[in-house]
Amino acid sequence: MMSTGHYRRPYYADVQVTSRCNLKCDFCSASAPGIHSNVNQLKIEDINRIFKELDELGILRVSLEGGEPFLRNDFLDIMKLADIYDFEYYVNTNATLINKKMAKEISRTSVRKLCISIDGPNETIHDICRGQKGAFEKTIDAIKNLQEYNINIDGIITLSRLNVNCLIETIEFISSLGISNVAIMLLASVGYASNNFSQVYLPFDEWSHTLLTLTDLKKSNLLTADVRIVSTGESKCPWELYLPLLKNNRQDDIDSWIRQDSLTNFSEGEFFCTAGKDNLAIDGAGNVYGCSLMVSEPGLRAGNVLKEGLIDIWDKSVVFNELRSNQRSDVKGACASCELLNTCGGGCRACAFALNKDLLYSDTRCPIAQ
Ligand SMILES: C[S@@+](CC[C@H](N)C(=O)[O-])C[C@H]1O[C@@H](n2cnc3c(N)ncnc32)[C@H](O)[C@@H]1O
Ligand code: SF4
Ligand code: SF4
Repeated sequence: MMSTGHYRRPYYADVQVTSRCNLKCDFCSASAPGIHSNVNQLKIEDINRIFKELDELGILRVSLEGGEPFLRNDFLDIMKLADIYDFEYYVNTNATLINKKMAKEISRTSVRKLCISIDGPNETIHDICRGQKGAFEKTIDAIKNLQEYNINIDGIITLSRLNVNCLIETIEFISSLGISNVAIMLLASVGYASNNFSQVYLPFDEWSHTLLTLTDLKKSNLLTADVRIVSTGESKCPWELYLPLLKNNRQDDIDSWIRQDSLTNFSEGEFFCTAGKDNLAIDGAGNVYGCSLMVSEPGLRAGNVLKEGLIDIWDKSVVFNELRSNQRSDVKGACASCELLNTCGGGCRACAFALNKDLLYSDTRCPIAQ
């Protein structure tokens, strides 16, 4: 139920039910520690309280994730708790731990869909990306188990240097599994990806080439799945899409990916980043952040749900206040004099912070900002 008197209600939240993970991706935005790590983990009662407060804030969608959510023995009970509330929910998972019995149990919950990471068309590439041999086989088995029970699945490809050469093949492979929606996640320079930046981050020229190929295939209806590109930073017209097309005099092709009118009518004002404005994230220990890409940065912690109510944190936190009051005209570095600032909205604030330790600095992944 929506209550009144808050800054404004968030639309969606990422809840990391655990920080731990059974895999080890070199780009992991959550900096997930291994399964034997003794990091604090929220109790199911705390998670229920979080759900209640999210419901009170009028949240529309919750993504349950991690770490790897299915590492928790009580994750099914957590899903059943989520069933009680008004928000819809998704689960983000590497799916390696979902057997037939679990798939059957999941089919009895109201989860909207499972967003499953599939980074390559074969075990060689996928297992390199996921840091563990055998991960591919387990994920594919799980997908078959889930499909037996007609559970909705989206495929997520996290694009990096490690899998860029087989991107089209991966899309075709995912659609051959009977999955029709594929999201390509562009890499955020946060968490392990900031430590391993040069090994995992795709240089701009390579990304440009890839985007042009994808655009040609999309325009000719040759992509085998409904492909969406998920950039960081939440801009309607992110530099990751606009700049490669602009540099190749193909800016009109932007409407293959976003609405043309997203290019115009932007006035002075806030960064387009919606962290702490439209969304929030909670890590496995109850720390609250503006978005899931901020969870590896203690400097961006807005509070902890074990010490304060989530609604109080949403309304009063200093970090959220800063995220809400920062203006694009305050940006430091090359973005300040870039003529595209009002189009791209100033890039991803989580990436800018991870690379420069300053929320107002330029998103230095952008080639113009370097
Ligand atoms: C943090 S994971 C948690 C769920 C689950 N463990 C998984 O990997 O699917 C959620 C999604 O974020 C993606 N991801 C991880 N690191 C990323 C990064 N640095 N930039 C963008 N997406 C990233 C993952 O590949 C996955 O699709
Ligand atoms: S991206 Fe997901 S699977 Fe990979 S280490 Fe992080 S939490 Fe685990
Ligand atoms: S330099 Fe900054 S403002 Fe210009 S396109 Fe890149 S991220 Fe956007």
